[in-house]
Amino acid sequence: MALDKNQIELDLKSALSEIANTKNFDSLKQVKIDHLGDKSPLARANQSLGSLDAKDRSDFGKFIGDARSQVNEAFRKKTEELESERDVQVLQTERVDVTLAKPRTLEGGLHPLTILTNEISDLFIGLGYNVAEGPELESEWLNFDALNIPADHPARSMQDTFFIEPLEAKLVLRTHTSPVQIRTMLTQKPPIYVICPGKTYRADELDATHTPVFHQVEGLVVDENITMADLKGTLDYFAKSIFGNDVKTRLRPSFFPFTEPSAEVDIFFNGRWIEWGGCGMVNEKVLIACGVDVKKFSGFAFGMGLERTLMVKHGITDMHDIVEGDVRFSQSFGVGKK
Ligand code: DAH
Repeated sequence: MALDKNQIELDLKSALSEIANTKNFDSLKQVKIDHLGDKSPLARANQSLGSLDAKDRSDFGKFIGDARSQVNEAFRKKTEELESERDVQVLQTERVDVTLAKPRTLEGGLHPLTILTNEISDLFIGLGYNVAEGPELESEWLNFDALNIPADHPARSMQDTFFIEPLEAKLVLRTHTSPVQIRTMLTQKPPIYVICPGKTYRADELDATHTPVFHQVEGLVVDENITMADLKGTLDYFAKSIFGNDVKTRLRPSFFPFTEPSAEVDIFFNGRWIEWGGCGMVNEKVLIACGVDVKKFSGFAFGMGLERTLMVKHGITDMHDIVEGDVRFSQSFGVGKK
């Protein structure tokens, strides 16, 4: 290849102008291949130096070397320029504004049923009661037999009770909190003053007024000279604490196997009588089964549904709201707001 200084200058100019026009790293890469690579015009010119005589070789060698170092220098500067542009851009796009308000996250809060349970526990603790608990998986004997509920009682049937397999184990999901009465009397001597809030289970479909998993609070008192008047006074106080001082209570004769006499307790609330729960004097058979000296002691008991209490108290008309766990429901009770 014949060497020509004009051509070398043209090659140099085109290299410099392409480098000058380069706007990004991709085209810079191409420019490097075209003008600095082994096959670039200046490299080829350099490669053909060997065929020149000594004088021309040094003359052209210098000329080409000078051109190549100009291209190298321009390439170096362009690389630097693009790098600093990129750094500025990264700083802008990835900028963190440390003064921005943090995203508001909701704080967890207690479910209204838990709030009610705590409220009830507090008020009875204030009366000197203890809070007792029992297992949700309960023996059939404690859930039924010890409470004087016989084997042929309808409450024991498959429709109401979740029996646990194998059936010979005689275990059920407790259908009420009343077995905790038995557990308490079997382990403590009177005087006994306990309430037992907890989860209970019945084979019901979830609808506006039923849920298969629900909550009750049980009350049990066993002491000397306990009468129905004590029961009535306690229920009055309980009702007033929960529903307000204007509420009235009344007892209607009823039947429960574990109390005798038994009653339904109604409350007069928002202008009408509403059924609230069951109660009565603890049946002697139950006291005797638990080893209580019935000549000396008598007792009363009561049991209320907590979902029902919550619905009446707050005018909730659909059970779904209580069980579905939508945070907007809890928030309307002032829970979890920020
Ligand atoms: N255990 C009853 C039920 O689930 C409620 C009840 C009624 C509990 C009367 C009592 C009571 O302690 O005395 O329907």
